Amino acid sequence: AHGAHHYLITPDLAASRYRKRPTDSHKGTFGRVGILAGSKGMYGAARLAVEAAYRAGAGLVYYFAPTDLSAAWLTAFPVEAIIKRYPGRAGEWTKEAIDALVALFREVTTGVIGPGLGMNLRENVELLFTLANLPVTLVLDADFLSVLASLRDRGQSWFARRSFPTVITPHPKEFARLLDVSVEQVQANRLGYAKEFAVASNVVVVLKGAGTVIATPQPRIWINQTGNSGLATGGTGDVLAGMIAGLVASGYDVQDAAIVGVYVHGLAAQLACQKEQSEESLLASDLFRWLGTAFRQIS
Ligand code: APR
Ligand code: MG
Repeated sequence: AHGAHHYLITPDLAASRYRKRPTDSHKGTFGRVGILAGSKGMYGAARLAVEAAYRAGAGLVYYFAPTDLSAAWLTAFPVEAIIKRYPGRAGEWTKEAIDALVALFREVTTGVIGPGLGMNLRENVELLFTLANLPVTLVLDADFLSVLASLRDRGQSWFARRSFPTVITPHPKEFARLLDVSVEQVQANRLGYAKEFAVASNVVVVLKGAGTVIATPQPRIWINQTGNSGLATGGTGDVLAGMIAGLVASGYDVQDAAIVGVYVHGLAAQLACQKEQSEESLLASDLFRWLGTAFRQIS
């Protein structure tokens, strides 16, 4: 469809995009990821993204937590995470909360916004647009994409405001909302829609699902071949968003972060299912045990 020219992400292609970490490095070399994710009942999504950003190589990962997130929940987060509070309850987007978040995002190089965040930001368009001006590379996922899709122009003016690189990681339903078409239409023309959106909105599109499509504004299109049905389980998308941010923070450009992130994420699922799990039993958090083996295969 659309005859969109594309490349397959082969093992050699993934290896060619892998960046060896310099010997003469320190944690400052690998950047700081800030994560705005989670809301009542959905903090697991944030927890997965935090660990994924670290496991993909970020120097430091900050979790921006609302003041009402209990200390008990925070113990579920990796001890390596740096917890920074913003005032208020999750989902109550006051001016104070947004001002605090803008200041917190100034401390990082890369942001993740969206996993498990809820939809309430939709009700405060002015504050929502403040986030477009954040001077960091952003990986946007899940609920945040649905909030943008709920705007009258389906987020076009929000994307137009961005002057730093942006990656979006929609699953087909989230992408269909952004495009205002049906999921069936998206799935019938994944390459065409991904390319069209990447060009029109100047973002890297990671359209997930079996055979994840990556499209850049150039435009350029890649199709991933790793992964399996074990990934069709809650939380694997949150892991991917965190990984892509971790790769960006550690020095990858957004295009290569998407290519390497998607490839390694899928390969980790395959390894986990070969070695200790099955496609039935795989959990999103099981991927962490296999990311190292997967990275070593392309290093
Ligand atoms: N083959 C290969 N990869 C797959 C397959 C498959 N059959 N099924 C799923 N995947 C991969 C996708 O490519 C993607 O990387 O698993 C990941 C699933 O990501 P999501 O669909 O975002 O799933 P999840 O993390 O559970 O997010 C679901 O977040 O997006 C919101 O509102 C949504 O609450 C929901 C939650
Ligand atoms: Mg998701």
